[in-house]
Amino acid sequence: MLKNKDLLGLKDTPKEEIQLILDVAEEMKKIVRSPHKKSPYFAGKSMATLFYENSTRTKSSFEFACSYMGGVYSSLNVATSSVNKGESILDTLKTIDSFGTDVIVIRHSMSGVPHVYAPHVRAHIVNAGDGLNEHPTQALLDMLTMRERYDTFRGLKVAILGDVKHSRVARSNVWGLSKMGAEIRICGPGTLLPSGVEKLPGVTVCATVEEAVRDADVVMGLRLQLERMTKGLIPSMGEYHRYFGVDEDMLAKAKKGALLLHPGPVNRNVELSFDVVDCRQSMINEQVTNGVAVRMAVMYLLTRDNKVV
Ligand code: CP
Repeated sequence: MLKNKDLLGLKDTPKEEIQLILDVAEEMKKIVRSPHKKSPYFAGKSMATLFYENSTRTKSSFEFACSYMGGVYSSLNVATSSVNKGESILDTLKTIDSFGTDVIVIRHSMSGVPHVYAPHVRAHIVNAGDGLNEHPTQALLDMLTMRERYDTFRGLKVAILGDVKHSRVARSNVWGLSKMGAEIRICGPGTLLPSGVEKLPGVTVCATVEEAVRDADVVMGLRLQLERMTKGLIPSMGEYHRYFGVDEDMLAKAKKGALLLHPGPVNRNVELSFDVVDCRQSMINEQVTNGVAVRMAVMYLLTRDNKVV
């Protein structure tokens, strides 16, 4: 059972709830992997997605998660919706809420949008990415991927590389992993590190990718978020890759068999070299599978006892 009505971020999610979501996701993954993907955990319930920004993985995996648990869903196409007639976020959310929706999954380019509007609707709100702030289900699926390999997060060395400044994935991972006792090493160009990053819990800032990756258990590349950059923050893609990218030689400096993670979509030969994306240590496709399991767990746990405001 989750304490709050909504899942808005891992900053405010207690360690015990992260643990619970991962435990349930582990069970849900059996359904995802099974030849008969049917379960009753969301039967009679409904989910709607409201994505003001593009998505492949998050949006589709919520849809699959809903279907695998026997629920119904509707995905609003913002581009062809009444948003284009000027309808506000509040009125759009209230409209979807009035369909009787149990869970609304929202993504928006502005940080804080889910937090501002969640109290105004009856449905459980899940933050699927708000601006530069958080992307909690992404971090949970990353953590599930780590937990499947390693017994404990305590002392786990996780290198997070690249465009941290624009990454809600990095922020959610920092909140989640630090609560569980992991050591987080961050490295990126100075222009792509947020001010005060060194003060975040569990974080050590490293001067070079080599320093961050050395002996790490997990190496996580972050997507270079060109769409959020208002001015040139990197000299060139080639130079970025040379100094901040990960190739097989760099991955070899991590602990033997270390996991390579990336939230996707990958810019091949920018954050990760073309070949390393598909190497044996790459968990990128496993992360996608775990995304369905985690989202099943979140929808199930949020609606289990019908907590409403
Ligand atoms: N990782 C992630 O959020 O991917 P999408 O943008 O494709 O949903």
